Amino acid sequence: MKFLITGASGLLGQGLLRYISTLGTHEIVGLLHHHPSRFVHHNIHMVTADLRDEGRIDQIIHDEKPDVVIHTAGLTSVDECEKNPEYAFLINTEIPRRLAHLCHQNQIRFIFISTDHITDGRQALFSEDVVISPVNIYAQTKAQAEHFVGQAYPESLIIRTNFFGKGLPWRQSLTDWIWQKLSAGESVPAFIDSWVSPLSVPYLSKALYDLSPLKVRGILHVGGRERISKYDFALKAAQHFGFNPTLVVPTPMASVKLQAPRPPDMSMNVSRAESYLGYALPDIDQSLSSIRAEYQGQDGH
Ligand SMILES: NC(=O)c1ccc[n+]([C@@H]2O[C@H](COP(=O)([O-])OP(=O)(O)OC[C@H]3O[C@@H](n4cnc5c(N)ncnc54)[C@H](OP(=O)(O)O)[C@@H]3O)[C@@H](O)[C@H]2O)c1
Repeated sequence: MKFLITGASGLLGQGLLRYISTLGTHEIVGLLHHHPSRFVHHNIHMVTADLRDEGRIDQIIHDEKPDVVIHTAGLTSVDECEKNPEYAFLINTEIPRRLAHLCHQNQIRFIFISTDHITDGRQALFSEDVVISPVNIYAQTKAQAEHFVGQAYPESLIIRTNFFGKGLPWRQSLTDWIWQKLSAGESVPAFIDSWVSPLSVPYLSKALYDLSPLKVRGILHVGGRERISKYDFALKAAQHFGFNPTLVVPTPMASVKLQAPRPPDMSMNVSRAESYLGYALPDIDQSLSSIRAEYQGQDGH
């Protein structure tokens, strides 16, 4: 199969390039924008494009003829979306709609990465048919994208997720921030009243790859199988990375001034995805174990 991965320089894009290329059997096109790819492999070639340039994207699809497009690119900073709503809707809503339409025309499998942010956060472990009630611009852009992608190409697979992994020089991740703080002996304020069900980039990349040939369409939750507060997550990360967990400080969300409101509970029920995949998605310990080596390699810790 031939995969085209948008957002190839991003946290998830890099994970997908790494996972799929090392299987050795597929051709991969990574779509870059401003930043490069850190990961190179003989099965991957890169193209550079701004996804807003419709003519260029048509040409890439025509030239490359991928079997599967996994659209990870987006404006992912919640606060940046709040500051620039027009740009956020263009990148996070209009571009996925256009790509879905293009993939429909060319009968290409289309997988769109949405978010766990789409509710008001009052329901734990919500399922795919939850009532959507976005509380910030980022969530609105993704919720509308889900709708437009489904309309433009009903066979699309729309993945709601939450993930973590080793970031990039131009893109610090949550676990990078925890690692950097703890390794400097600094305290890590972590929310006691915000819940997620995340999984690591390597596990998410495998699940997306496994789902790509299956006849599953519509919305699917692909996260970890465990609901956890951000405080408990930071504690577990400290333990896995071998740092002093007492540096993790329990912090209420209300004590921090955030540009955009956040839904308190973003944990998702992932059982539908598990039934398609035929295996259990990872718990937090499994996911943290899968990225530990990448961190421990960096400073001999
Ligand atoms: N991180 C999470 O926990 C999380 C949770 C839920 C959902 N998601 C969703 O998962 C997806 C991947 O997230 P991520 O954290 O891997 O993203 P990321 O690291 O922030 O990377 C975003 C990517 O989008 C590319 N991009 C942005 N604007 C573009 C444009 N106009 N044309 C072409 N490429 C463009 C960026 O390229 P340049 O940097 O070169 O511009 C970058 O490669 C996103 O859709 C995000 O909303 C993420």
